[in-house]
Amino acid sequence: MNIHELKDTAVRYVEEAGIYIKEEMKKSYHIDTKANKNDLVTDVDKNVELLFKEKIEHDFPEHRLMGEEGSFEDIKDLDGIVWILDPIDGTMNFVHMSTNFAVSVGIFENGKPLIGIILDVMNGELFVSLTGEGAYLNDKKLPLLEEKPLDEAIVSFNTGWVLKDEKLQHIVKQVRGTRSFGSAALELAYVAAGRLDAYISMNLAPWDVAGGYALLQEVGGIATNYEGNKLSFLDKDTLFAANPYIYREIDAQLK
Ligand code: IPD
Ligand code: CA
Ligand code: CA
Ligand code: CA
Repeated sequence: MNIHELKDTAVRYVEEAGIYIKEEMKKSYHIDTKANKNDLVTDVDKNVELLFKEKIEHDFPEHRLMGEEGSFEDIKDLDGIVWILDPIDGTMNFVHMSTNFAVSVGIFENGKPLIGIILDVMNGELFVSLTGEGAYLNDKKLPLLEEKPLDEAIVSFNTGWVLKDEKLQHIVKQVRGTRSFGSAALELAYVAAGRLDAYISMNLAPWDVAGGYALLQEVGGIATNYEGNKLSFLDKDTLFAANPYIYREIDAQLK
């Protein structure tokens, strides 16, 4: 199977996941907690991951899956082809708002992004990228990110972190506006689409970031951890993703 067929198949899986999630929302689903009382997970998150697992095992037995809801424990490296999946990114939004959540997939080959797919399930926005061939929003090619000044930037932050970090508070005062959407995948897709100019967050897992990272590569965006180091996609890390011009402006102030 060539890379275009792989992309089309992965997009089909994501769209099928979106249909499944919408059907499950008409019924009642079980809500559980994980690390703490605000760390929610539902049966829908788990079942979406199982759907991907079955399909990938059947169609691509040589590929591996790293997913949030359990399919990550055996993944200790990114050799070969690895699907990095967040079955529902923004579970709190899913449970409380019934909108603003996404299915996110990053397909990596030997540690490098090949394909990025993020589906905003309720708003019907599908972001897709293929390395070297650009990023698309519902089949419309996203342009390269353009230069803009910091005082015209809209930046998405993890609010809890801003409260603790004086440098971030100083950035907040200089930008045009701040936002917080509660879905790292959507926030990264919005940076890629130029709707946001930066997204800064703490303690994100590979599945929160992989799909959006692939998208950003195709529009000239930059994504590192908070210290400016390369992301490993094997461990949790901080994240600083931005339009390249805004990245440089903010980075100079964080040092
Ligand atoms: C969460 C969302 C949220 C971010 C959290 C993530 P989940 O993912 O992306 O925006 O702030 O750190 O864990 O658990 O809803 O998939
Ligand atoms: Ca979660
Ligand atoms: Ca997530
Ligand atoms: Ca999730």
